[in-house]
Amino acid sequence: MTREFDGYIGMFDSGVGGVSVLQAAAARLPHEKFLYYGDSANAPYGEKSRAWIRDRSDAIVSNMLALGVKAVVIACNTATSAAAQMLRDEHPNMPIIGVEPALKPAALSADTSNILVMATRVTLRLEKFQKLYRTWGVKRTVYPVPCPGLADRIEKGNLDAPDMYDLLEKLIGPYRGKADSVVLGCTHYPFVKEQIARVIGDVEMFDSGEGTARQLARRIDELGISAPASQMGSIVFRSSRNTPDELDLYRTFFDMKIS
Ligand code: DGL
Repeated sequence: MTREFDGYIGMFDSGVGGVSVLQAAAARLPHEKFLYYGDSANAPYGEKSRAWIRDRSDAIVSNMLALGVKAVVIACNTATSAAAQMLRDEHPNMPIIGVEPALKPAALSADTSNILVMATRVTLRLEKFQKLYRTWGVKRTVYPVPCPGLADRIEKGNLDAPDMYDLLEKLIGPYRGKADSVVLGCTHYPFVKEQIARVIGDVEMFDSGEGTARQLARRIDELGISAPASQMGSIVFRSSRNTPDELDLYRTFFDMKIS
């Protein structure tokens, strides 16, 4: 029996944020077919309970597996922190790749010693980030800054509007002049890199897109499940808010250049 998404790579996020990871993955793996699912009807995840995020991630991944995907990318730091291990335990034969705040590359960069980490409350609270911090953060000054409202605001588009700057000023304005680098620890935030730079200054920024795409490429290669070079890559967008406008927003974000 063939299924609708046999041989696809499934990728999901609470909404449009994971499209920043999709950009990197599609660029690195031009022969792959991707099914992107944004849970925009339920975004943001960053203010929900761990149990809720687990249940939701479980439902999304089970559905993707039933549709035939060959690998899953959790293109969401929050869902990775809350649910990746559980999903891997549940589906031991399925490659499940998660994302994490890029604190390691930031800490290894020669020019950074005062690192601002922007992420959701859930990401910063859970063990995954705590462990990263213990491994890479202790010899630096790290400012973990929860950014409630930011992913939700990005979901609404119109990224250069004054209220975006007001929100960023409130969240990270106090670190201007203190932070010499920023870790974008939520997959929504690369879409407002320029706006963040206007508020915090022209500092080095680190996101997780490239690293995740590299890891995905490595995993499917090791497993011998990469698409043949003769296959033309493609992307299908789905959303829990499955309206034409919403799917247009996903495509617009996909086409947006993240500088
Ligand atoms: N994009 C998500 C992340 O990477 C979550 C944002 C949210 O839904 O709060 O954490």
